[in-house]
Amino acid sequence: MPDRAPDPYELAPEPPKPALPGEVLVRATPDELIDAIAADLLFQARSCVRAFGDFHLALSGGSTPEPLYARLMYDPRLRDFPWKKTHLWQVDERCVPDDDERRNWKMIGDILLDHSDIPRDQAHPMPVLESDGDLRYEGDLRANLEWRERGHDRLDYVLLGMGPDLHTASLFPDSPALAAPAGRLVVFNEGPTVVPPRRMTLTYEMLNAARFVSVMVTGPAKRDALGRLIADPPAPEHAPILGVQPLGGTLRWYLDDDACPTPGPG
Ligand code: 6PG
Repeated sequence: MPDRAPDPYELAPEPPKPALPGEVLVRATPDELIDAIAADLLFQARSCVRAFGDFHLALSGGSTPEPLYARLMYDPRLRDFPWKKTHLWQVDERCVPDDDERRNWKMIGDILLDHSDIPRDQAHPMPVLESDGDLRYEGDLRANLEWRERGHDRLDYVLLGMGPDLHTASLFPDSPALAAPAGRLVVFNEGPTVVPPRRMTLTYEMLNAARFVSVMVTGPAKRDALGRLIADPPAPEHAPILGVQPLGGTLRWYLDDDACPTPGPG
């Protein structure tokens, strides 16, 4: 049987993607990855504004998402992002004064608030210096979401990062916030495994109620951590990122090749 001429339209088989819970999207570079995240985020925002008239977005701090936030401000393909209809929430925050460089809100505000037309009363920084700040933020979330029909009274989109210790948000391994009481949506967190300073964080209950949860992981510094997750997944109390299991929503990992133990299709 003569060898069959290769089919010029045959798609090259995709190399195996890392075996992580939910969907996994891999791109060769952070820039290409941001293209994909931004396109998905725009789609989610438009869909929610069409369906509900607004879009509730919760963002993480850290260094990984910073170029994504900047891209949202300058990329002409995103110019009609519905910022006027967007509520901007925080995933977590460090309990330090407003002007402290460690504040996630400082980075988020400098990039997004100062360069978009999000109405100021739709920007919700965590009140980390108030003793009952967690309960107040929880009340804010409920007040802004509870008017929606049942099942849609939840965050529409949550962007998470992941630390080398497999924490996410400010849910650190073996830390008190992992066992927040049922019904709590926001708590303070501190303890020997919580990287100082004291933190405020959304709880699993709030994260796992979300419609769409993205986990953005880039760079070689995260490769070992991802490798541990894939090769020998620890129990969620030791790897809080594995506690993120949206109940009725989408979980999508966005990885670049440098972070992948097994480089993706790129
Ligand atoms: C924080 C973040 C945190 C972050 C991870 C990853 O307050 O530090 O919300 O959860 O997402 O620590 O941080 P990098 O993106 O800087 O690696």
